Amino acid sequence: MRDETISIHGGYEAGETRAVAVPIYQTVAHDFVDAAHAGAIFDLEAPGFHYNRVNNPTVDVLERRMAALEQGTAAVAVSSGAAAVRYSVRNLTQLGCNIVATPQLYGATYTYFAHVLDKEGVEVRFAAGDRAEQAAALIDGHTTAVFVESIGNPAGNVIDIEAFAEVAHERGVPLVVDNTIATPLCLKPMRYGADVVVHSLTKFVGGHGTALGGVVVDSGKFPWAEHPGRFPMFNEPEPAFHGVVYARDFPSNAYAVRCRTVGLRNEGASLAPLNAFLLLQGLETLSVRLERAQENARAVAEYLATDRRVAWVRYLGFEANPYHQLAEKYLGGKFPSVLTFGPAGGYEAAISFFDSVRLFKRLVNMGDSKSLVAHPASTTHRQLSPAALSQVGITPDMVRLSVGLEHVDDLLEDIDRALGAKP
Ligand SMILES: Cc1ncc(COP(=O)(O)O)c(C=O)c1O
Repeated sequence: MRDETISIHGGYEAGETRAVAVPIYQTVAHDFVDAAHAGAIFDLEAPGFHYNRVNNPTVDVLERRMAALEQGTAAVAVSSGAAAVRYSVRNLTQLGCNIVATPQLYGATYTYFAHVLDKEGVEVRFAAGDRAEQAAALIDGHTTAVFVESIGNPAGNVIDIEAFAEVAHERGVPLVVDNTIATPLCLKPMRYGADVVVHSLTKFVGGHGTALGGVVVDSGKFPWAEHPGRFPMFNEPEPAFHGVVYARDFPSNAYAVRCRTVGLRNEGASLAPLNAFLLLQGLETLSVRLERAQENARAVAEYLATDRRVAWVRYLGFEANPYHQLAEKYLGGKFPSVLTFGPAGGYEAAISFFDSVRLFKRLVNMGDSKSLVAHPASTTHRQLSPAALSQVGITPDMVRLSVGLEHVDDLLEDIDRALGAKP
């Protein structure tokens, strides 16, 4: 099936009820047939649900749908994108190892890497930039992941995933890609060698600003068994789960099974069934929403680029954008509806624009049907020092727009009015 069809039908078969919409299984647990049945489910020998911290039938449909869209073998849905980032990395790390990341990251991911993971005994090495060779220079015998955002939020850089996969794999390390801004409908990182893909489903997939959610998808391709020293968690009996040896016992989805049975089961950032339902609703219309939002974003970018009250515009659809070629290659012309610009007049002008819009909502989300405006330096990335801000690609005058589905003329009128406001 094609993406548009998978987004609507993937992972769901109506049972006896023949319900067309995916039912919300608002339950905490499932009744076992008998002790043998319970034992088989707990030992992962029989499929089935037992306790909804670990799995749930509504959430399961979302997981299957996202795995299909990302062309992975299995997925684990969690309660937020931030939880997805954490689980994706913690599934690969233990005391004394390190991960390598590009610096152009979403603010909470950057903070988590820079100030939380290190306290848990995992060193995070930020590359000097977003080129594969800069990351390669930091990989050593204790590196267990390379982490990138396919399109950096809000830097708007595009990662050469193929090149990153190559340098990581040459060194026996998996590549983890946060694909939130691109969405699987515009970019499938696993086609280019990504081993794990994470998403904040809160953004484009949900699309209406009504539910938090995240997902971790396993490509099923990384050869864990070839690297027993680097990945003991996949090659040695797992004390946290019945002595399972994941790479041996689950060769096609070892990473996802461990993420669920060690990560989710013990840490419990489970996705609520109602939120899974809301995210599935969003996913059904993702393809048409993206088309409209991207069309509107182009019009907004072109308008800003010709306005003398604007100092700069960063939009991947512009040929002059330094990442345009990579965007052509990886997004096939589907340029994101998230863009940034700097009003002439610097920081004060950015704040004045932010304060003056009437239709754009002032908030820190993106991918909504509503148009949104954010000022990263004073919100999502507020905790960063000036040096860290510039490292992640943010300037004090940067305004980020997530262009929605409204009539484009209303958006342009709002922008025109806000640019005209006196700081
Ligand atoms: C690229 C990216 N990854 C992860 C997250 C975290 O997602 P959530 O807010 O759903 O926890 C965000 C949030 O903005 C994001 O932009």
